[in-house]
Amino acid sequence: MMICFIWKVILLNIIINVAESYKNNGFPNNIDAQGPTFFIEPPGNNEFINSAGLIIDCMARGNPQPNIQWLNLKNNPVLPISKVRLILSNGSLYFPPFDAENFREDVHWTTYRCSARNTIGTIVSKDTVVKAVVPQRYEPEVQNPGGFIACNVIIKCVIPSFVRDFVTVTSWLQEPNFNIYPSLEGDGKNHMLPTGELLVYNITKHDVEKMYRCRTHHRLTQNTLVSKNAGKIQLTEIQELVPPIINEKILKLRIRIGDPLVVACDAYANPRPTYRWHAEREGDTETLENMVASGRAKTKDGTLIIFSVSKTDNGPFYCTVTNSEGMETFKLELLITSPLSAIIQPSLQTVSLGHTADLICRTFGFPQQNIVWLKDGNRLRTGSRVRLFSSEHIHFSPIVKEDQGMYQCVLRNEWESIQSSSEFRLGEVFPQLNYKFIEQTLQPGPFISLKCSCSGNPTPTIIWFLDGYPLPNDDRIMIGQYVTMFGDVISHVNISAVKSEDGGEYTCKAYSNAGEVTHSAYLNIYGLPYIRPMSILSAVAGKSFSLRCPIAGFPIESVSIEKDGVKLPVNARQRINNATLTIENVQRAADQGTYTCIARNKQNYTSMRSVELKVLSLGVEATTSCLEGRSTNHWWAIGEAAALGSCDLPPNIPPNRKSCRKKKKAYVSSSYITICF
Ligand SMILES: *[C@@H]1O[C@H](CO)[C@@H](O)[C@H](O)[C@H]1NC(C)=O
Ligand SMILES: *[C@@H]1O[C@H](CO)[C@@H](O)[C@H](O)[C@H]1NC(C)=O
Ligand SMILES: *[C@@H]1O[C@H](CO)[C@@H](O)[C@H](O)[C@H]1NC(C)=O
Repeated sequence: MMICFIWKVILLNIIINVAESYKNNGFPNNIDAQGPTFFIEPPGNNEFINSAGLIIDCMARGNPQPNIQWLNLKNNPVLPISKVRLILSNGSLYFPPFDAENFREDVHWTTYRCSARNTIGTIVSKDTVVKAVVPQRYEPEVQNPGGFIACNVIIKCVIPSFVRDFVTVTSWLQEPNFNIYPSLEGDGKNHMLPTGELLVYNITKHDVEKMYRCRTHHRLTQNTLVSKNAGKIQLTEIQELVPPIINEKILKLRIRIGDPLVVACDAYANPRPTYRWHAEREGDTETLENMVASGRAKTKDGTLIIFSVSKTDNGPFYCTVTNSEGMETFKLELLITSPLSAIIQPSLQTVSLGHTADLICRTFGFPQQNIVWLKDGNRLRTGSRVRLFSSEHIHFSPIVKEDQGMYQCVLRNEWESIQSSSEFRLGEVFPQLNYKFIEQTLQPGPFISLKCSCSGNPTPTIIWFLDGYPLPNDDRIMIGQYVTMFGDVISHVNISAVKSEDGGEYTCKAYSNAGEVTHSAYLNIYGLPYIRPMSILSAVAGKSFSLRCPIAGFPIESVSIEKDGVKLPVNARQRINNATLTIENVQRAADQGTYTCIARNKQNYTSMRSVELKVLSLGVEATTSCLEGRSTNHWWAIGEAAALGSCDLPPNIPPNRKSCRKKKKAYVSSSYITICF
C-alpha cells in the first residue's frame, strides 16, 4: 500500500512536470531565466561613526530573484551577531550603533562582499570596506618653524595620527581675523597649499610678529576645530651662512587625474637659495619646460603648480635648491590615479556545447594591480581548455556543460576594487537518448529493468508509457530517475516478478524546452490475451483522435475494435492499424460512445475491454474534475486518478489562453488540452 502511494506521487510529479513543460513550450509569455546582476552594489568605502551605526544595501536582479548573502574575506557567509551585526530582510547588512568599548575589529573594521545567487549562477560584489570610527578628541597643533629673513617658510598644522585619515585642514587664521584659504597660487605673501600647509614667501621682520592658527574639519563627525595654540615663525638671528637643508627630502603624493597639484620645495638656507624644478621622463614625454610653456604647469619661487595632472605626470619630479654654500635636492614622487572600471564583453552570451567562446574584460583606470576571474563567485580555474590568453582574455575551447554560469573579472589596486559580470548561457541542446532498452520476449516471473538515458540542455525529463498510456498503478512497477554528474538523465522502469499483463509497447520519452525524443520497444510476456483497463477518453470535436488498445499477452493473433457492438471501421473517417483506431474529424454525435477492444490468440482465447469516449467542443467543455484523459497530442491528468466525471468548464474560457497561472483550470486550445496545476 505504501509503495503504491509513493508510485502515485512519482506519477503525479511527472505529470505536473509535463504540464509545466508544455506550459513553457506552448505559451509565449514565459520569461527567460536570467543570472543575477547588482542594481545596488555596496560601496567600496563605508566609514561611519560608532554612535550612528550603518546600513549597507545590496540588491540584485535576476530570474529567479537572486538570494543575497554577505561574505567575509575568506568567502565564508557572514552570520548575524545579536545587536552587533544584523542581516535585514531586504538583504542589507546592518551595524547598529554601539559604544566604544564594544568595538570589534573583526566586525567593525574589516572587508565584506555581497553575493547574489540564483539557479543560473552567483556573482559577488567588489570589496566593501567597513570602518567604524569611535570619535576621539584631538587638538590640531601649529608648529613654529624657523627661517632666515627673505626665505620661504612652511607652517604646518599637525594632526594626531589617530584621526589623520578623517581630518583635513580647511583654512588658516592669521590673528586676529585674516583668513587664508587653499589656492593654487596664493596672494604673493601667504599661500595655503591644497595639502593643508601654509607657505609664507620672503619672510620679513614684520612676518615674524604674526600669529597663525589652523582650522580643521573631521569628515565623519563634521566637527570643525581651531587650533588652541597659535604658531609663529622663528627668525634665525645668527647671520651665519647655511647651505640648503631640507628636512623631508622625499614626498610621495597620490593624486587623482585631473586634480590640481601644488607642492612647495622648502629649504632652510642662508643666503636665500634659488629653486629649480625638473622632471626626468623617458622618451618623448612632456618635459617640465614644455608643461610650463604650454601653461599646464607653473613654478613660482620654489612652488610647483600643475593645474590639472595628467597620466604622464606619474613619476618623480626634482627640486634643486642652491645657494652660495651648497645644493640640496628634494624629490616628489607623484602617483597619478584614475578610478578603476571594468566591463566584461559580452555581458551575456549563448554558447553551444563543443564550440568555443571568449570573454574579454576591458579595464580602465590606473594603477592596476591585478585582474582576477571568478566563476560563480569562486576563482576561475584555468588550464588548457579554459585558457587565459592574457589577463584580460579568457578563451573556452571546447565549451562543456559546466561552463554555464556567471563570470566576473575583478580589477584591483591598493585602494579600490571593481567588478563586472557576464552570463554564460548554454544554448539549447535537443534531448538525445544515449541508451535505450531493447525488445524482449520472455516467460513471466523474472525481474525486469528497462532503462533509458538521455542528455541535452536544459536537462531533459524522462517519462514512460505503456501502449501510449501512463504506466499502470501497480506496486510491482517502480520508476526511478536521477541525473548524473554530467547532466545525463537516467531513468528505469523496474518490474518485479513480471506478469503476462505487463506486456506491451513501452515508451520512454525525454523532453525539455529544446524538444523531445521518444523510444519504444515491446516487452512480450508469454500468456493469454489481456487488455488493460482504460480511463475515460476525450476527443476534441473537429480534430482527429486515436484509441490504442493496451494489449498484453503473447502471442496475439488478432485485434479488433467495436463501437456499441459493431465492428469498426464503419466509415471512411475510421482506420484501424496496429491495434489502434484513428478517427479523423471527430464528431460528437457519431463518435461519442463506448468502444471495445478485443484481442484473440491462436487458440481463440479472447480478452475484451470497453472504454468510454467523450467528445469535447472547443472552448465549451473541458474539465476541472475529469481526472485523466487523452487528447490528440498529449496526456493530461490531475492528481489521484479516480472518479471520472464530466468534463465541464465555464463556457467563457477562450481557447489558446496564454497564461496558465490558476490551479486546476482546464481549457482547450486549438491543438490540445492542457490542465494547469
Ligand atoms: C533595507 O531595509 C532597511 C531597514 O528597513 C532600510 O533602511 C533600507 O533602506 C532598505 N534598503 C533598501 C535598498 O531598500
Ligand atoms: C620673493 O623675493 C624674490 C627675490 O627678492 C622675488 O624674486 C620673488 O618674486 C619674491 N616672491 C614673492 C612670492 O613675492
Ligand atoms: C532498477 O533496477 C536497476 C538495475 O537493477 C537499478 O540500478 C535501479 O536502481 C533500480 N531502480 C529502482 C527505482 O528500483
